[in-house]
Amino acid sequence: MAMFPLTLADIGFAANQVSILSGINCSIAAGSRTVILGANGAGKSVLMRVMHGLLPPTSGRVQWGDTPFRPGAQAMVFQRPVMLRRSALANVAYGLKLAGVRDGERMERARTALTRVGLAHLADRPARVLSGGEQQRVALARAWALDPAILFLDEPTASLDPTAAAAIEQVIGDIHASGTSIVMTTHNLGQARRLAEEIIFLHQGRMTEKTPAARFFAQPVSPEAKTYLEGELP
Ligand SMILES: Nc1ncnc2c1ncn2[C@@H]1O[C@H](COP(=O)(O)OP(=O)(O)OP(=O)(O)O)[C@@H](O)[C@H]1O
Ligand SMILES: [Mg+2]
Repeated sequence: MAMFPLTLADIGFAANQVSILSGINCSIAAGSRTVILGANGAGKSVLMRVMHGLLPPTSGRVQWGDTPFRPGAQAMVFQRPVMLRRSALANVAYGLKLAGVRDGERMERARTALTRVGLAHLADRPARVLSGGEQQRVALARAWALDPAILFLDEPTASLDPTAAAAIEQVIGDIHASGTSIVMTTHNLGQARRLAEEIIFLHQGRMTEKTPAARFFAQPVSPEAKTYLEGELP
């Protein structure tokens, strides 16, 4: 696939002369499950927005395979999903409309996506009355319906109870199994262990390591990550 690897070459991001990201070099391979860890304010959300193409970097390059940008190859889901004032089904269908999917196809694809996240029975319910966990599943269905090459997830379970979070983790696993690469952030280390194949660790806007997950949790390479894990683990 020509869009992989997604490569970040010497990425820097600054706002009002304050450096938020600097010297970020990494690549995301097809089929990967990457979790970005780091303390509050480390730059995780900014990094994902740069990867996604929402924020142009101040310096460096984002390459999708051999091209600079691939609109449509990626989707993103945030901590608090934004639901339009219409049914769950219509929310998913609207995402497809924005992506240019033709009329006749939208409803069927939206229904399929809702079924895949276990929400077929709530398709006609107004999205805004759904629980937080259900809304997050609608958001995942909306993203999955686009069949993205990469899905970016910024703390997708941060405001959910453990049961709802487990349901979301299941859906994320299913999305990955369907062939979509996953890049996500979380402050839940149990979740990172369950979902990550690879960990990117950010400290004050710098990437101190990118390590296979099993190795990261057994013995992180960077002192910054070691300190973070010691603080977070019981
Ligand atoms: N558009 C912006 N303009 C100026 N500063 C910004 C902007 N976006 C983020 N920042 C700053 O960049 C730093 C990194 O923010 P970011 O949201 O990426 O952190 P994070 O690692 O996602 O933290 P958290 O774990 O709390 O979500 C913060 O100090 C934040 O205030
Ligand atoms: Mg964040």
